[in-house]
Amino acid sequence: MVSSALLLQDMAVYNAPDVRRVNHALKVYGFACMLGKSENLPEKEQLTLEFAAALHDIGIHAAEQKYGSSAGPYQEKEGPAIAREMLEKRGVSPEMTARVCQLIGRHHTYTNIDGQDCQLLIEADFLVNLDEDGASKETVQNVRKNIFRSTSGKTLLDALFL
Ligand SMILES: [Fe+2]
Repeated sequence: MVSSALLLQDMAVYNAPDVRRVNHALKVYGFACMLGKSENLPEKEQLTLEFAAALHDIGIHAAEQKYGSSAGPYQEKEGPAIAREMLEKRGVSPEMTARVCQLIGRHHTYTNIDGQDCQLLIEADFLVNLDEDGASKETVQNVRKNIFRSTSGKTLLDALFL
């Protein structure tokens, strides 16, 4: 079984020397691990979530280079192909690779959340972004109401931001 540590390493090397980006991914990965385990995800789904969290923003640099913007839709467009190459190189199964790429390709899209892995990836990214963006309490309340579903995610959101 491929360890998520190797994909984190790939992510860090790919993003170097942008330490801020690396730290963002590490934080999202940490929350995703915590949420998945707290919600008792089956082993395969937990690993899918961990891989997706490690690589979720991998398309940002390509998006900035190609479109001059790191906006969600651009990185969703660029991320999956870069992630696929990394996952395949590390020997991740085609099935898991496909799902991880799908999650990376939609992690800024909140209308088609089709599984716990997707839900928890989005919650983990919000737990980090709300802090990094210095979000207001009102924003946090809206995100809680409209996006958060898991008990563990809500517990963390309440404890950290409300
Ligand atoms: Fe992110």
